[in-house]
Amino acid sequence: MLSNTEVKLEVTSLKKIFDRKIIFKDVDFTLNTLDSLAITGKNGSGKSTLIKILANVFTQTTGQVSLSINGKKIEKQYFYKYIGFVSPYLNLYDEFSGYENLKIIAGIRGLPDNNIEPVLKRIGLWERRNDMLKIYSSGMKQRLKIAFSIIHEPQILLFDEPTSNLDAEGVQLVDSIAEEYKNRCILIIATNDEHERSLCAKEINLNNYKKDGTK
Ligand SMILES: Nc1ncnc2c1ncn2[C@@H]1O[C@H](COP(=O)(O)OP(=O)(O)O)[C@@H](O)[C@H]1O
Ligand SMILES: [Mg+2]
Repeated sequence: MLSNTEVKLEVTSLKKIFDRKIIFKDVDFTLNTLDSLAITGKNGSGKSTLIKILANVFTQTTGQVSLSINGKKIEKQYFYKYIGFVSPYLNLYDEFSGYENLKIIAGIRGLPDNNIEPVLKRIGLWERRNDMLKIYSSGMKQRLKIAFSIIHEPQILLFDEPTSNLDAEGVQLVDSIAEEYKNRCILIIATNDEHERSLCAKEINLNNYKKDGTK
C-alpha cells in the first residue's frame, strides 16, 4: 500500500448539460491527499453524474478534471487505475460467483486481482465466494461492489450511496473503509444520508450550482 503518495484532484469550471438542461455549472474544487468531500443535493441534482465524470465514465460538457499523483499528471484514460468506484450502476454478472465476478471485472478493467482473497475476507463474503450472484442478497451485492472498488488500493475512493442496502455491520464496514482512505488518500461520497455525509470533512451541495446567481 502506498502511504506517502501525494494525490491532487482539481475540478475547474465543470458543467454538465443533458438534453439542453443544465445539471450543474461552475463546479470548482481542489482536493489533496487526506481530503474528504461529500457531494450532496436533492434527488436528480447531479451527484451521480458528477461522480461518473470524476471516474471518467461520463464526459463533462465543459470544464476540466485533472488528476496528478506525486506531481505527475495522469491522462484521463488511466484514471481507472487510481480510482475506486462504488455505484448503484455498476453491473455484476448473475451467472458467476462472487469470486468470479471480481476476477472478471478486474480482468476487463486491467486491474490487479492478487488482492481478491484478503478483500473478500475483509468485506465478509469469503464464505460465500463460490455462490452464484443470482442468490446474493442486495446487501451482499453491495458488499461485492465495495470489494471491487478497493482491490487495486486506489488513491481516490468514489462512493455513490455506499451504505444503501447494507445492514448495521455493513455500515460499519463502509465506515472503516472510509476512515482508512481518508487517512491515506482522497475520499468522495455522493449522498443524501446524514451519516454518510458526516464521514467527510468538506461538502459541496449541487442544489447551488444550477444557474447564474444561485451560488
Ligand atoms: N444518461 C443520461 N441521459 C440524460 N439525462 C441523464 C442521464 N443521467 C442522468 N441524467 C439526468 O441528470 C440529472 C441528474 O441525475 P443524477 O446525477 O443521477 O442525480 P442524483 O444522483 O443527484 O440523484 C437527472 O435529471 C437525470 O435525469
Ligand atoms: Mg445518484
